[in-house]
Amino acid sequence: MDRVNSYCDAKIWEGDLPPPRDTIIENIASVEGLLCLLTDKIDAPLMDKAPKLKVISNCAVGFDNIDVDAATKRGIAVGNTPGVLTETTADFAFALMMAAARRVAEGDRNVRAGKWKTWGPMILLGQDVFGSTLGIVGMGRIGAAMARRAKGFGMKIMYSDVIRQQPQTEKELGLEYVELGKLLAESDFITLHTNLSPETHHLIGPEQFKRMKRTCILINTSRGPIVDNMALYEALRDGKIAYAGLDVTEPEPIPIDHPLLTLDNIVIAPHIASASVTTRTKMGMMAAENLIAGLKGEPLPNPVNPKK
Ligand code: DGY
Repeated sequence: MDRVNSYCDAKIWEGDLPPPRDTIIENIASVEGLLCLLTDKIDAPLMDKAPKLKVISNCAVGFDNIDVDAATKRGIAVGNTPGVLTETTADFAFALMMAAARRVAEGDRNVRAGKWKTWGPMILLGQDVFGSTLGIVGMGRIGAAMARRAKGFGMKIMYSDVIRQQPQTEKELGLEYVELGKLLAESDFITLHTNLSPETHHLIGPEQFKRMKRTCILINTSRGPIVDNMALYEALRDGKIAYAGLDVTEPEPIPIDHPLLTLDNIVIAPHIASASVTTRTKMGMMAAENLIAGLKGEPLPNPVNPKK
């Protein structure tokens, strides 16, 4: 905010919860730049209320909350924060994978509930991560960072994506390129790193769960709607898969009475995969620089509009 304030007069929403849409509408009419979060839906009707808007700077790498086509048509630049959160997010996806495999959150709940009575050979048995097979859906920056970590854990790594990596990258990371169906059927762990689009909405649903191993563990740190949460609930409840680790849900926050929260075989975090002090500071600075460049009418350091 210091950087933003050094360049322009900024109106700042100070609430802990996202600003109501009406508040955004009231304020957007007079502004040339908008720095927003992934919780703010910035769509065409909103842009129509913002005749002066030159730039939308999203403080996130994902930008499914913004109608980029609508912005492009109106000549509004859109920016995001790629790169700086890659390793932090992969750290967290790996942490969720370890937590799910070794039932860390369940163990903690048991300890706090006074259920730790003794050491026992059959208590909270989990699954080995080391030496198992990891399926990565989406081999972008974060998918590749997961692969680097998995390599260190001696994992066999397969991936599926619309774009195949260069042979050199596949060799360096030890990747096998496969169809999604094979990945679903053969992975011990599946981790999702795709963006959210109409093509990836509910990419993992009832049919996909049927193809997974009963011991499979699903990790999602991308966007909640990529997984059909009711299908996930049924798969976990019925033992079609073993466990899940989620940092993202549909909707967010997940309602406290959601059936997923009745299950033990899931660990859920509140969308914090990029939440390290260093990374969030870098994201904030990148978002500020995108905003300022857009206000100046200069190319954004990190644009997402299609190139002309
Ligand atoms: C993003 O940047 O898209 C994450 O979901 C939050 O860091």
